[in-house]
Amino acid sequence: ELYNFRQIGADTKVYGVIGNPVGHSKSPLLYNAAFKHVGFNGIYLPLLVDSVANFISTYSSPDFAGYSYTIPHKEDGLKCCNEVDPIAKEIGAISCMIRRPVDGKLKGYNVDYLGAIKAIEEALGASNGAPASVSPLAGKLFVVVGAGGAGKAIAYGAYEKGARVVVANRTFGKAKELASKVGGQAITLAELKDFHPEEGTILANTTSVGMKPRIEDTLLPKEALKHYALVFDAVYTPKSTTLLREAQEAGSTIVYGTEMFINQAFVQFERFTGLPAPKQLIRDVLARNT
Ligand code: ATR
Repeated sequence: ELYNFRQIGADTKVYGVIGNPVGHSKSPLLYNAAFKHVGFNGIYLPLLVDSVANFISTYSSPDFAGYSYTIPHKEDGLKCCNEVDPIAKEIGAISCMIRRPVDGKLKGYNVDYLGAIKAIEEALGASNGAPASVSPLAGKLFVVVGAGGAGKAIAYGAYEKGARVVVANRTFGKAKELASKVGGQAITLAELKDFHPEEGTILANTTSVGMKPRIEDTLLPKEALKHYALVFDAVYTPKSTTLLREAQEAGSTIVYGTEMFINQAFVQFERFTGLPAPKQLIRDVLARNT
């Protein structure tokens, strides 16, 4: 299913996902299927990269039309852009890079937060019936666990929507730095265990805790999860992490990492191709392959 192309020619636009590891990424599967579905002449490769700077300078010919970025290169990627979107600059990380056809320059964007925030808003909106014009995140307490690229993106996204942000991170210094930028509070992972969330609080895991192969790992014991109205996990391999399974058992609304991934894939597809994303096809391909 991955590379089933009738032809690759000089006009074929080449894209890829830069990461390490990258073998678990569903992006090649999704984009190749979507390109084919809409008749877009492009291919999308998994790119196992150690040094983003070396990779970008090695492939400096305009053959690569765009890149997606995954762990651990979202911050390094930003340093290799010719131009950076203001929100990505503020976040300090990019999720994709697009080459401008006219001069070959690479511009970095961050659409991670759009995917996660949209998915969380939809889940909350559906559960409390808030009018579409007001974000259901406004005024809510929003605990972001992790202060890497994804953590920053989600913290900024929540802040933009008017939530009161708490950042919990293993390295406390990084939590403090991020919290200060979004006018929030910083706590350690140990403090998270004793944190008493108010009604309606949202918990978002942006760390790799619970990711395959260490699927039994989780941030919080089940008893602590019942205090959170909604729990989101950016980890999407496996789809249902221990955190999400236990949150659901504890009665919280849950949002799978796949929803963040799907929503940001729609946005990236549209930026890569200039065409509307085939949303149902993307959902179907992901459903068949998880
Ligand atoms: P991403 O771009 O996906 O956010 P990243 O920038 O490498 O990836 O960030 C990884 C995040 O997961 C960090 O917040 C990291 O915590 P530290 O800042 O202390 O490194 C967190 N993380 C990774 N492994 C972890 C673990 N085993 N326990 C707790 N936090 C972890």
